[in-house]
Amino acid sequence: MSDASTVSGAAASDASARPPAVEFRNVTKVYGEGTAREYVAISDVTFTIPDVVGHGEISSFLGPSGCGKSTVLRLVAGLEPQHPPTRGTVAVLGRPVVGPGADRGMVFQDYTSFDNRTVLDNVVFGLECRGVSRREREAEGMAWIAKVGLDPRRDATKYPHELSGGMRQRVAIARTLVLKPRVILMDEPFGALDPATRLDMQDLLVTLWREVEATVLFVTHSVEEAVYLGDRVFVMATTPGRIIDDIRLPTASAPARDTQSQPWFHDQVNALHARIEQVEAAAKHPTGDSRHVEAR
Ligand SMILES: Nc1ncnc2c1ncn2[C@@H]1O[C@H](COP(=O)(O)OP(=O)(O)OP(=O)(O)O)[C@@H](O)[C@H]1O
Ligand SMILES: [Mg+2]
Repeated sequence: MSDASTVSGAAASDASARPPAVEFRNVTKVYGEGTAREYVAISDVTFTIPDVVGHGEISSFLGPSGCGKSTVLRLVAGLEPQHPPTRGTVAVLGRPVVGPGADRGMVFQDYTSFDNRTVLDNVVFGLECRGVSRREREAEGMAWIAKVGLDPRRDATKYPHELSGGMRQRVAIARTLVLKPRVILMDEPFGALDPATRLDMQDLLVTLWREVEATVLFVTHSVEEAVYLGDRVFVMATTPGRIIDDIRLPTASAPARDTQSQPWFHDQVNALHARIEQVEAAAKHPTGDSRHVEAR
């Protein structure tokens, strides 16, 4: 056996020995169970996202409104009322999720900065909670302000109302990544941005993701965004929310604008648009039965 095959064999067995970054086993979430408002948001959702050493993966979650994308993400985050699941298990890095934790960080669509804190104070908020000294957290905070493409000298002392939407999301990303979570949860983080800013933010995310080597779960309504960012795309359907496709894709390696002109990208985007249209049509079916959109 050559050295190369020995090394790759060892790496493969090491990877399989590590607990997955995120694992859902037969997870069902029923809101208002036992009441007149009972609603099955997701049903029997099972997937495994491996913890790839020195890399991490980006998994996109795509599907029509109400299919349970945020429910899945918030179950990983351990946030109520999505947490705990009604049935099944959610585990992160081999441990069942019992609530929020430092191993996970979340970026939301809404601009969630504290209005009365400057950019720097927003970015270092989590470090402050962890008891990191002022000197250390401000050095870290300024470094992250630069990494997300803001100007430390000009922007650090601004307040959120003095920032554009794109700048605010840069602050939100810095605030999450400064804490170095192993798993990053992003719920339509670029949904409110104009198309050009959105592409810039996708490029920024890929650059930072390579640096932090974290596992990313990324929820989006945009097929293009899901295909560009995703190493993998989970397609979800509604009523009840469930995963119907699990598609492997090339890792984002070129800027978003270059990738969008490539034939494989067009083919994949067209196929996924067709799939989503099928799911949406099924959701609007007069009988209300969308079960005929089957997993493949
Ligand atoms: N706290 C809650 N109580 C009751 N029902 C809820 C609650 N949160 C979500 N739901 C319902 O569960 C379903 C899934 O919601 P979820 O927010 O996960 O969907 P989504 O895929 O993120 O939708 P969108 O794309 O519009 O953000 C929806 O029908 C929603 O109305
Ligand atoms: Mg949502």
